[in-house]
Amino acid sequence: MLKLKKVDAKMNLKQLAGIEAAKFVKDGMIVGLGTGSTAYYMVEEIGRRMREEGLRITGVTTSNATKEQAEKLGIPLKSIDEVPVVDLTIDGADEISADFQGIKGGGAALLFEKIVATYSKETIWIVDSSKLVDKLGKFPLPVEVIPYGSQQLLHIFEEKGFQPVLRTDENGEVLTTDGGHYIIDLHLEVIEQPESLATYLDELVGVVEHGLFLNMVSKVVVGSEKGVEILDAIRRK
Ligand code: 5RP
Repeated sequence: MLKLKKVDAKMNLKQLAGIEAAKFVKDGMIVGLGTGSTAYYMVEEIGRRMREEGLRITGVTTSNATKEQAEKLGIPLKSIDEVPVVDLTIDGADEISADFQGIKGGGAALLFEKIVATYSKETIWIVDSSKLVDKLGKFPLPVEVIPYGSQQLLHIFEEKGFQPVLRTDENGEVLTTDGGHYIIDLHLEVIEQPESLATYLDELVGVVEHGLFLNMVSKVVVGSEKGVEILDAIRRK
């Protein structure tokens, strides 16, 4: 199903998607709060609704950055270990294929994002239309690894022709995730078989998690020049 709403000229496309998705949040929900520049707008909108409309929710954050933002907005928070289940998670994505599989982790929060999404009844992704692709893989696939043995994994990925790059931060230092791990980005160009690649990565010792989010999303809210589209994905989990 596809619904279209008009673009407000003053809003950017990420903001449009973030604000629209926040409408799915209902009073009393436990809400997974994603990470990134699109999720930022969704969290701000939830904060606004709490202030102006009296919405009450409990947030479960997916990164230290989102936790900081949510705390500033006065959103009550619990950790994923303190809730029975998350009602709804809203998060960004780096690429979404035509069959609603995703790559996430551009913002280095993929591990906590995947944990929160896994224990959520429903997950919505919010993106601008540039993130919609036919097949995954143009966006480098992030793989979160334990620092100990990470050079071995880099060699293995090199030999496989995955063009691995150890992610660094803005100072050129090796980036450390909120979970204390490294990220290796795989430059694959196209992923023909996401399921088998996911299984391969899942089985490698030292890999903590990877950015293939398969069969996890139920709706995608897309901000495009034409307006906001809400795409219903087939949930196959
Ligand atoms: C962080 C993520 C983000 O959701 C993803 O990178 C999209 O970010 P943005 O909304 O800034 O484009 O997976 O780990």
